[in-house]
Amino acid sequence: MSTRNTPNMSMYPASYELNEQGHASLAGVDLVDLAQEYGTPLYVLDEATMTQMAKAYQETLSDFYAGESLVLYAAKANLSMGLCQFVQNQQLGLDVVSGGELFTAIAAGFSAANIFFNGNNKTPEELELAFHHRVAQQGRIIVDNFYELDLLHRMALERGQVASILLRITPGIECHTHDYIKTGQTDSKFGFDISQLPEALKLITQNYSETLSLKGLHAHIGSQIFEFKPYEDLVEILLNIYYNIRQQYDGLTLTDINIGGGMGVAYTKKDSPLDVRKTYEKVTKKLQHYAEKLQFPLPRLLIEPGRSLVATAGMTLYTIGSSKKVPLGKRYVAIDGGMGDNIRPSLYQAEYCAFIANRAPKPGRVFGGKTEAVTIAGKYCESGDILIKEVQLPKPQAGDILAVLGTGAYNYSMASNYNRIPRPATVIITEGRAELLVKRETYTQLMQNDVIPKHWVSEGQVTSVGADSSGHRVQ
Ligand SMILES: Cc1ncc(COP(=O)(O)O)c(C=O)c1O
Repeated sequence: MSTRNTPNMSMYPASYELNEQGHASLAGVDLVDLAQEYGTPLYVLDEATMTQMAKAYQETLSDFYAGESLVLYAAKANLSMGLCQFVQNQQLGLDVVSGGELFTAIAAGFSAANIFFNGNNKTPEELELAFHHRVAQQGRIIVDNFYELDLLHRMALERGQVASILLRITPGIECHTHDYIKTGQTDSKFGFDISQLPEALKLITQNYSETLSLKGLHAHIGSQIFEFKPYEDLVEILLNIYYNIRQQYDGLTLTDINIGGGMGVAYTKKDSPLDVRKTYEKVTKKLQHYAEKLQFPLPRLLIEPGRSLVATAGMTLYTIGSSKKVPLGKRYVAIDGGMGDNIRPSLYQAEYCAFIANRAPKPGRVFGGKTEAVTIAGKYCESGDILIKEVQLPKPQAGDILAVLGTGAYNYSMASNYNRIPRPATVIITEGRAELLVKRETYTQLMQNDVIPKHWVSEGQVTSVGADSSGHRVQ
């Protein structure tokens, strides 16, 4: 096994290089050329980074864990049909949280047995979809609360089927990047509190035994986690519960243990994420040690990384437009995207790093040459649409291509059409070539679900304007 650090620890995608023109490139593809060919804003994903991360997770579990294991990609980080195919090719499973994610996976040919359905308020229609595509029977429904337990039981009964389930619990561990606390009480919209488990288990074993097959427990303790200790604590807490369940419920032996996702990535130099291999080596050892101590058969270990599988692989390319200096001295540089394609800075003050792709830095360095501190402003009509509060850039000018690092996770998947701006395309870079994963939205697509009530339209009025596929008006 390689001793190199896993890519989530770096701000740059694995195949990033500075080429002879002084341009940023990924796997030999010039990002300035790419911006010209596909337009901006443009999401770019580096396949080498994603593959290295997927392999790091998988190899670590298979090298260090003696039981069965499965790495599930948390689809919420970034999902499209193409990414489903990539995930399937890597032999990962998929964690979905909505009918839309589930439908995308099924449409892409994803195997139902490897789909896990999470979420705190799955609707009857979404669960129906899960039964219809055999995700409920062959994959897993991760049941979040008593309402869902009852709903699923009734739906399974109606269909004469058995649903395979995990129960999501809140284990009393809260993580926030660098610190975590263990609490007796939990205050979360997700999952069963540990104190509610006996009641849930009683229902499952006594009332729902013909319709629900309990396979294990699930817990997700947070995101952008920079410590391994909370995961070690988590496996201990969960395995203790498994042991007690076996003692108290007639030998009921849970066979799946899902410890969620949450591994951190480096968005800026301030971040110090963990090496995936080292972390899961420790966690699996702890789990095995504890299982041996309790004489409990090793369950199938499931983990659900989202961000760490794709964030570092991603960059967003923008074209710089207007810029201005305010009287207090700050310089605003505006780009042709913003909160519609990356809501994270406005939503929760997420920080990003950027550089100018046509005057790019050497790998590992963000700023080359003489620079000035600027604020990167989006083009959306909100004062809060600030992508980066302060970044050092070498004299940005209109027409420069700005590359924002670490945008592979929770950017495209959280994108909106605010201000009726079409969402960007995504291209994947693989060994010297770029291919579309998601096409750029067009103005026509923005209107495709619009309906003008008939009584508002006067006779003879023309209500549609032609648009070409790029969204530009055609007269
Ligand atoms: C249940 C669950 N699993 C997995 C994830 C993925 O977390 P991350 O992207 O931090 O790895 C999340 C993220 O919110 C989650 O809620």
